[in-house]
Amino acid sequence: MCGIVGYIGHREAYPIVLKGLKRLEYRGYDSTGVAIIQEGALQVHKKKGKVAELEEAVVGKNMHSNICIGHTRWATHGEPSDRNAHPHLSNNGRLAMLHNGIIENYAQIKTELTNKGYTFKSDTDTEVLLNFIQDIQDNNNSSLEEALRIALKRIVGAYCILLIDQADPETIIAARKGSPLVIGIGKDEHFLASDASPIIEYTKEVVYVNDYEIAIVKKDELILKNLGNEKQTPFIQKLDMELAAIEKGGYDHFMLKEVFEQPATIFDCLRGRLLQEQQQIVMAGIDNHLEALTKASRIMIVACGTSWHAGLVAEYMIEELCRIPVEVEYASEFRYRNPVIHPGDVIIAISQSGETADTLVALESAKEKGAFIFGVVNAVGSSIARLSHAGAYTHAGPEIGVASTKAFTGQLAVLTMMALKIAKAKGSISEERYVHLLNELASVPEKVKEILADTTVIEKIAKKFKDASDFLYLGRGYNFPIALEGALKLKEITYIHAEGYPAAEMKHGPIALVDEKLPVVFVATKDMYYEKVVSNIQEIKARKGQVIAVATIGDTVLPTMSEDIMFVPEIDEVIAPLLSVIPLQLLSYYVGVAKGIDVDKPRNLAKSVTVE
Ligand code: G6P
Repeated sequence: MCGIVGYIGHREAYPIVLKGLKRLEYRGYDSTGVAIIQEGALQVHKKKGKVAELEEAVVGKNMHSNICIGHTRWATHGEPSDRNAHPHLSNNGRLAMLHNGIIENYAQIKTELTNKGYTFKSDTDTEVLLNFIQDIQDNNNSSLEEALRIALKRIVGAYCILLIDQADPETIIAARKGSPLVIGIGKDEHFLASDASPIIEYTKEVVYVNDYEIAIVKKDELILKNLGNEKQTPFIQKLDMELAAIEKGGYDHFMLKEVFEQPATIFDCLRGRLLQEQQQIVMAGIDNHLEALTKASRIMIVACGTSWHAGLVAEYMIEELCRIPVEVEYASEFRYRNPVIHPGDVIIAISQSGETADTLVALESAKEKGAFIFGVVNAVGSSIARLSHAGAYTHAGPEIGVASTKAFTGQLAVLTMMALKIAKAKGSISEERYVHLLNELASVPEKVKEILADTTVIEKIAKKFKDASDFLYLGRGYNFPIALEGALKLKEITYIHAEGYPAAEMKHGPIALVDEKLPVVFVATKDMYYEKVVSNIQEIKARKGQVIAVATIGDTVLPTMSEDIMFVPEIDEVIAPLLSVIPLQLLSYYVGVAKGIDVDKPRNLAKSVTVE
């Protein structure tokens, strides 16, 4: 996490960097800082809190400069504070640097530097790396670029850094390993950022910097080198993103906008792939690797957070429709538990950002062991997308709200198409069921629209339960992962403790929590478990729990047993998660708003977690 922006060129640099930092605040908002060079001297301004607080703090100050680097932080080493905010200055005061990532071996280097007399103003690993660079530069009489290269060879961990030297106001030096960096190419100007959103209004030509590359950026020159000091050819790509996609467009919050965008984003995801008339699914990433996928003896799905929940839904789908065993793994656990991976094993990586460090690192090691990696990613050109052998983008557009919504339904849509396509190719699904599910999937955008047409009931329920201290979310089958996702959404943006559980498993523990104060959300749409879920509802009611149900339109039984009810249109149970999650997204949103929480930037979270 942490957002990074840099500018060098013919314009005023600070306003460009400031605007860019606001766009990247989703990556962290514990503190903000910028560094500029004025008449051969570094000026650093930093402040605890969101970007707006820095903006206010520098009002009236001379910020004139054509070079600026800026940072919005999600704290790892050291509490959020002014002194831990980036950029940091080297001991000699000549260099300023900011960093996204974690230097794992910083403690040892810090001891070495302390023994040499270096002092540290912050608790960050970044300041250690910076002084390490200064030390190499001083001792070897080397250029900054050379010193950086030597330092990076010793570093263990992840980084995207921007570095400037007050003696050279014509250059920004950048480097990356494991944390993203995009460079926008303008006329006599360059833009650097963690993603393309700060760049898009100035240029559509970008270069995604690769791991272990150093970029030497001047206003009219971009040189890329590897750590062996060999020049690399920058691969210039055209951005396929519009400015409107990253603005709020009249909604109070990005999250609400993104929830309401779902009929369109799901449609975009299906467009050109799900061909209803031909009763066909066309996905190049799968077509080109159909054999690897159909012949897989098992599939492993690796993801984190909400994306992991999409993976759980996929497990149910792929096992039912394709008859291939599936394991769904938390990326952070998968990496470290030395999993058995054979060459040819298929791994589906799911990630909105395509930059989540846990997922990325897990995939790197699986790839080394010969696994075939299929990426289901939203952010085009992201690290996971590039690392995958094949993949399918979710086409949900930029997701800014920290709580994932439209990216999740995009993931479900892609995974459903994948499952149907593999099942068809394997012959593990009947023609009739294939056509039925294909048509059901095609109906999703319209049905989501129906749910969103009137949200007053959901808003009312949110107001009623906003002061609850705990929630329980229960579901079975395809709706079990949706119960987990509903609980996660609530925790993320309302700070209310919530647990998701399989409805039947509830009696083995969580039932002890039930009393007249506990809201219990049942995801109870019409499916093969429906009768059983109704019995589970009775068990909760018998203990005086407050039942809130997500039910299928036309259900006449659940209204008699639930205090509150949110309806979704009827749909096959395989596709149901795409609908039943929508009221739960909105429930969390409205509870968060009723509690006065900044739902787009809830405390302690970050949209893209690029540290392990
Ligand atoms: C963070 C976000 C979650 C997201 C998870 C995985 O924790 O706050 O919303 O689900 O990362 O992110 P990814 O980008 O890999 O889907």
